[in-house]
Amino acid sequence: FDDRSLACLAAADRIAATIRAATDARGKAVLGLATGGTPIPVYERLVGLHEADGLSLAGVTSFNLDEYYPMSPLDPRSYRSYMHRHLFSKVDLAPNRAHLPDGTVPESALEAYGEAYDRWIAAEGGLDLQLLGLGRNGHVGFNEPDGMAVDRALDLPTRPVSLHPTTIADAAKDFGGEEHVPRRALTMGTASILAARSILVLAFGLNKAEAVARSLSGPITAEVPGSLLRSAGDRVTWLLDPEAASDLR
Ligand code: F6R
Repeated sequence: FDDRSLACLAAADRIAATIRAATDARGKAVLGLATGGTPIPVYERLVGLHEADGLSLAGVTSFNLDEYYPMSPLDPRSYRSYMHRHLFSKVDLAPNRAHLPDGTVPESALEAYGEAYDRWIAAEGGLDLQLLGLGRNGHVGFNEPDGMAVDRALDLPTRPVSLHPTTIADAAKDFGGEEHVPRRALTMGTASILAARSILVLAFGLNKAEAVARSLSGPITAEVPGSLLRSAGDRVTWLLDPEAASDLR
């Protein structure tokens, strides 16, 4: 795309079309949603389509990718608060159908909670569409770079993870300094993400160029989680601005 705002319009229009088609066909649509700076204009456009174009999210069930851990949903820095600010409070999505990983689950229950989150997604019939950003280090959700074998990396459950130093550095602005950033998070795993019927990846700006190039033209490896998306073939669409695409050749 010539610029990021055009890419965000296209992403929102794809999401709206998915909501309408899935709701018409099955009476519901199941969306995987992302936070971060990148998708904010996407949510603005969806709110605009809701207000001015009759787009209803009443049939949508949503599952967000991730949440910091530990994190209260009431904390303004939580991803739950972000989703409330940018989308949930402005559309007709039913509050009890809007899921995010719960940053208050007790430590001893985290693994079981993550597996339950995947079961809830499966019980809804899987994700019609997953919206993704891309970390500067190539992370997808908070599936961070890792030395594990590709087979395993493609089939990870929703689970507690440790955040990568680059992720902590990038979150510092939201927490008033790196030392205040939670070291851990809950993330949707690659198994649920890669099973989505369509996947939209948004990446903008020069600081994403290297991660985009490594994801699209380097080896498929758990060291670059974005490269694992290639296993989903043509179910994946990358929406890039010229800067993010500038290392592709
Ligand atoms: C957010 C998420 C992350 C972000 C990524 C890019 O829910 O899962 O993977 O998509 O860190 O963040 P931004 O958009 O802030 O550059």
